[in-house]
Amino acid sequence: MKETITSNSPEETFSFAEELGRKISGFSVIALYGDLGAGKTIFTKGLARGLGIDEDITSPTFSLMESYEGDKPLHHFDLYRIENLNEFENLRFEEYWESEGVSVIEWPEKAGDLLPENRINVFIEYINENMREITIEYTGN
Ligand SMILES: Nc1ncnc2c1ncn2[C@@H]1O[C@H](COP(=O)(O)OP(=O)(O)O)[C@@H](O)[C@H]1O
Ligand SMILES: [Mg+2]
Repeated sequence: MKETITSNSPEETFSFAEELGRKISGFSVIALYGDLGAGKTIFTKGLARGLGIDEDITSPTFSLMESYEGDKPLHHFDLYRIENLNEFENLRFEEYWESEGVSVIEWPEKAGDLLPENRINVFIEYINENMREITIEYTGN
């Protein structure tokens, strides 16, 4: 299943993600694809709100991952700084992806084949300054 929506503002992207956060199961992995400045972190903030998290979400650029407690826990990964698959493997992030909670992964390309097959792919494409196309795809079963 695959659907694409157009977002005309950061707020719309936030709301779309918030809605997803409200209806998603507590065992989900979301791979968030998109260039720098696409809106991955804003999307994650909306998702967090939908999961009932009040804390402010900041991008874990240096820590690579941050967890938050909510109605459902959120594990937020930003793999931008990972240089190769070997470095990724040593972090053992798969253990989070198999445990309770919603995992959202910025720069999922860096995890290669270690991403779970059952996941939600979100592609955010820059159209112009305020417009993005957001495609959501459910893979596996
Ligand atoms: N429709 C939109 N959806 C998301 N972000 C948008 C949109 N229009 C403009 N922006 C801007 O794009 C930037 C996205 O930043 P961020 O979420 O940090 O991106 P990323 O994490 O993908 O690098 C923000 O400055 C935001 O205000
Ligand atoms: Mg980001």
